[in-house]
Amino acid sequence: MAKNTNDEQFKNVISHAKEYGFVFQSSEIYDGLSAVYDYGQLGAELKNNLKTYWWKAMVQLHENIVGIDSAIFMHPKVWKASGHVDGFNDPMIDNKDSKKRYRADQLLEDKIARYEKDGKTDKAAKLQAEMDDALKAEDLQQLKTLIEQHEIACPVSGTKNWTEVRQFNLMFSTQFGAMAEGSEEVYLRPETAQGIFVNFLNVQKSGRMKIPFGIAQIGKAFRNEVIARQFIMRMREFEQMEMQFFVRPGEDKKWFAYWKEARLKWHLALGTPAEKYRYHDHVKLAHYANAATDIEFEFPFGFKEVEGIHSRTDFDLSQHQEYSGKKMQYFDNDLDETGKPYGNYVPYVIETSIGLDRMFLLTLINAFEEQDLSEGDKQDSRTLLRLHPCLAPYKVAIFPLTKKDGLPEKARAIMDNLKLDFNCIYEEKDAIGKRYRRQDAIGTPFCVTVDHQTLEDDTVTIRHRDTMEQQRIEIKHLDELIASKTSWKTLFCKD
Ligand code: GAP
Repeated sequence: MAKNTNDEQFKNVISHAKEYGFVFQSSEIYDGLSAVYDYGQLGAELKNNLKTYWWKAMVQLHENIVGIDSAIFMHPKVWKASGHVDGFNDPMIDNKDSKKRYRADQLLEDKIARYEKDGKTDKAAKLQAEMDDALKAEDLQQLKTLIEQHEIACPVSGTKNWTEVRQFNLMFSTQFGAMAEGSEEVYLRPETAQGIFVNFLNVQKSGRMKIPFGIAQIGKAFRNEVIARQFIMRMREFEQMEMQFFVRPGEDKKWFAYWKEARLKWHLALGTPAEKYRYHDHVKLAHYANAATDIEFEFPFGFKEVEGIHSRTDFDLSQHQEYSGKKMQYFDNDLDETGKPYGNYVPYVIETSIGLDRMFLLTLINAFEEQDLSEGDKQDSRTLLRLHPCLAPYKVAIFPLTKKDGLPEKARAIMDNLKLDFNCIYEEKDAIGKRYRRQDAIGTPFCVTVDHQTLEDDTVTIRHRDTMEQQRIEIKHLDELIASKTSWKTLFCKD
């Protein structure tokens, strides 16, 4: 029952996102391109505000973190060194009847979830352990055996007529250079992090950075996901906000704990209820990591990863040192406990990596509310996006009560002043009530109405989105009131 409600809520969010210009299917007029999406006029604003929130928190409020913007194309050896050419694979399996392709581990995960739902917890735990072992050992035959043993059928054809399990590399590749013969195969980056690693020394030297310090970046990443589903949750083209924090060997555990806490605080400052978030500490670690945790959010389809915090040791820099033949070391002239300089070393790295699109999705889901405003026999309702005012695409909507008597001119003059500081929208069509509802649906925290009294005493009505309260205020106080709720200070200077 609860599942249906969640499914419905999720569907409503998706159609709301399209109806109001937040997210569209890519190339929709050609029936779309699977797992690729475009952000519309309001989506682009919300996305930019999320980026600003992250960039301010990570770069501008940390003296020892700087931001870069590296290219999507990188030398092919980068991906050899990083391990992506050989190891960035998903195990996939095809159903011979439906011709549908699945991730073998995902089929098993779904089965585990079903066992858990049916109260068969022992069976679920056993299968989980067996699957983890098979994945770790890269034992593809064992994955197929588990699928057969647990009688997993294709959700489309209903048959158990499976191919062998094969590894499928998730990187997209293309030809670099104009001539077919002279061209070289390059990859579209599957993570932004490598652009940071290869620039580690450039930034350290040119910025005279002292360890510990961080390099941050926001940018596109591409993965040829075997199955892409749940709207913008798993896309083939998406955006990451990543930060690599370079530390002294031996201080990595301390900084991992610091960033784990700091990143959750960043999420919670937006006012999301704490119970919607949880950490998922990895028990089985990638070979280069000595600690890893996911920050998970409770989406309508369950708790899922939004951000990863990884203690990546000196793996990436050492690999690049080996493959490029260039030293990726830092000379630390601070003194250790024995009074000697720490000297030369390859720094250790703590990474924070958040998917911008997933953050966007959780923000929409969290803000979306269908409110029943019925009173007695009078039925009424509204759809509301209770976005944090800092994230709202428009901060203020300006309405002249009518289209005549000089009210539009007065409203335009107010807007011309406010738009220098705030993203504003002007609307004069429809009744005021309808205009309020439209702004509620896109999350605009304030609506300002200019009426005949405004022409006499320079006051307007300002209406608050969440409470629907209206107050009369002087035009000259509008800036201050709107800024008090929409300034980034409201997020960063709490108690
Ligand atoms: N540099 C580390 C790294 O890329 P990851 O866990 O593979 O780690 C980090 O990705 C974040 O990127 C995830 O927590 C998720 O939010 C986002 N992400 C990964 N794959 C994605 C996809 N196909 N679509 C949307 N977001 C994705």
